[in-house]
Amino acid sequence: MAKPRILSGIQTTGDMHLGNYLGAIRNWVELQHSHDCFLFMADLHAITVPHDPKTLAENTIKIAATYIACGIDPAQSTIFVQSQLPEHSELAWIFNCITPLGWLERMIQFKEKAVKQGDNVSVGLMDYPVLQAADILLYEPDSVPVGEDQKQHLELTRDIAARLNFQFGSEDKPILKIPEPMIRKAGARIMSLTDGTKKMSKSDPSAQSRIDLTDDPQVIIKKIKRAKTDPERGLEFDNPQRPECHNLLGLYQLLSNQTKAAVAAECKDMGWGQFKPLLAETTVEALRPIQAKYQALISDRTYLQQVLAEGKEKAQAVARPTLDKVKAAVGFYVL
Ligand code: TYM
Repeated sequence: MAKPRILSGIQTTGDMHLGNYLGAIRNWVELQHSHDCFLFMADLHAITVPHDPKTLAENTIKIAATYIACGIDPAQSTIFVQSQLPEHSELAWIFNCITPLGWLERMIQFKEKAVKQGDNVSVGLMDYPVLQAADILLYEPDSVPVGEDQKQHLELTRDIAARLNFQFGSEDKPILKIPEPMIRKAGARIMSLTDGTKKMSKSDPSAQSRIDLTDDPQVIIKKIKRAKTDPERGLEFDNPQRPECHNLLGLYQLLSNQTKAAVAAECKDMGWGQFKPLLAETTVEALRPIQAKYQALISDRTYLQQVLAEGKEKAQAVARPTLDKVKAAVGFYVL
């Protein structure tokens, strides 16, 4: 029997951080044994805000190298670059024409990002979730493993698929498969090191707010030492008055591969002076093998090139027939 399929991606804007790793990639690595995985670099999404053309391609390659360094195996999973497949933009256009504007105006990420752009908000930024729906639905995945912040985008994806099916299909013969979101509780929302109520994010202007997967040990130690805490002694999960405490314990739990109960017991009498060096060492050790593998991969351009060329072909073999099916259903002239 065919394995269930998953699809997911990461935007090619800057370096990846612990939130991307713990909220997304680490789960993909686990899922690739039981699932048919399609994982891509979302470079079309990266240009929805002003970007530097000199670094876009390099960021894409870096993310591909990071996927593999984290444990994604190109022999098992399909890794590809979004902009290499025109199917994504083409399906997004068709979706644009059936998506009510009001659905996009409600998107939280759009509102947050639009504020940062001032007068410079592009149509692309508003259209971002429609492109994301095309990314997903082209591959007809069973589920989409992401962090908590993508939940609303996945709901929109399901709504767009249902609308297309309703307008152009029939109840017994839907055109597109409607995927399920897959949001794991642990790691789904890694928070900023400078404010435990804000998510860790690539777009935060302060590098101190996040740990990048490529930060060297000295930088990691320094960032954890400076991380915001509180004056209380004894560490605990789930106290709404202590969001930083909850977040840092959660990081320790995930990076040391322990259960929440074990970490709660280990740290209940600790002060920050004892806990922070422990978290720093655990983080450095967890990232060490990933960083070593990344360094080897990033200098092997021929290999990365080959992985992405093969990925493109495998992805297109799935995406093309889906696009053709949608075009036929919508009624386009077929040669
Ligand atoms: P992006 O690049 O912002 O994030 C990539 C993945 O990392 C997760 N993530 C987090 N998880 C936990 N804590 C955090 N602080 C944190 N920050 C980020 C995200 O939830 C995501 O899973 N729109 C997507 C990219 C995309 C996509 C897609 C994803 C484009 N098309 C199709 C899935 C399917 C994005 O900007 O992710």
